[in-house]
Amino acid sequence: MNISRKVLTLDEYTIQQVRQIPNATGELSALLRDIGLAAKRVNVEVNKAGLVDILGDVGSVNVQGEDVKKLDVFANDQFTGVLQHGVSCAGIASEELDNYVPFDDSESKKSKYVCLFDPLDGSANIDVNVSIGTIFGVYRRVSAKGSIATKEDFLQKGTQQVAAGYIVYGSSTMLVYGTRRGVNGFTLDPSIGEFSLSHPDIKCPPAGKMYSVNHGNFFQYDKKVQSYINICQKKDKSTGGPYTQRYIGSMVADVHRNLIKGGIFMYPGTLDKPKGKLRLLYECNPFAFIVTVAGGKATNGIQRILDIQPTELHQRTPLFIGSKNMMEELEAELAK
Ligand code: AHG
Ligand code: MN
Ligand code: MN
Repeated sequence: MNISRKVLTLDEYTIQQVRQIPNATGELSALLRDIGLAAKRVNVEVNKAGLVDILGDVGSVNVQGEDVKKLDVFANDQFTGVLQHGVSCAGIASEELDNYVPFDDSESKKSKYVCLFDPLDGSANIDVNVSIGTIFGVYRRVSAKGSIATKEDFLQKGTQQVAAGYIVYGSSTMLVYGTRRGVNGFTLDPSIGEFSLSHPDIKCPPAGKMYSVNHGNFFQYDKKVQSYINICQKKDKSTGGPYTQRYIGSMVADVHRNLIKGGIFMYPGTLDKPKGKLRLLYECNPFAFIVTVAGGKATNGIQRILDIQPTELHQRTPLFIGSKNMMEELEAELAK
């Protein structure tokens, strides 16, 4: 029997990483394992969504004023649950919850990290069988270990993230996470129920060809943003031809595609909503961290997303994120 195999599972990979870092305690790899477990549970429910009565509104409206689907609640409970029962997380904040949740049991209070997440991103796409996802960012707490986590632990700049990642529940299910050392992607192998390293050391191609934006809002955007979108459409053969427009409406799926293939994703402010729609802490910071580590860029049009000092848990920000050259093209337009 040949038992040799080359593909590392998520757990094997994270444990190997710990061994390469002097003084590492393994708490981060334990946290990533907990997230992988919740992701597998959510994946099972996402796959059943068309079969069982799990669709539809739960009847409530979330703190963002949006309808809550049953799967949002399920995903929120799964991620909160595994992190509370694990040994690495002192508290969480979630797009679905009004306030942050410090874990007050003695094990959790001793933990080093806090985790912020959007448990189900693109939830409007559940009903129509289109990819959805989960997004998370991990920070070292600033409050003392042993005490209860505080709001300051959650209101840190994105640059302070120790790790960030996302899960895309798509034609296959993938978990992608980054630390300052690099970004790696793991595909769920359903035959063994394990995330296996499929995309080692992901780099965002500097020159992409795809732009992702909600065109329906075009006349709501700032003139400079409109003029960049026109540039994307007007490129001729000498400048690489017009860019291709792709917009799924699940940020996880859109940014994942652009990270792998090269591209730019934009959710600008609009006349009605100058800060746009996306949440700094749960959506923008984790992706800004991942894309930056992978060689791309992320801004709000004025400053780097990762440098914004958050003042409230649910604050929103315009977002422009993607391949380095395309981002520089955009920044040149915005600077005019
Ligand atoms: P969520 O389902 O967590 O509320 O997030 C949906 C977000 C994001 O994934 C997507 O890119 C964006 O909303 C789409 O918004 P529009 O329909 O306004 O373009
Ligand atoms: Mn979202
Ligand atoms: Mn969501």
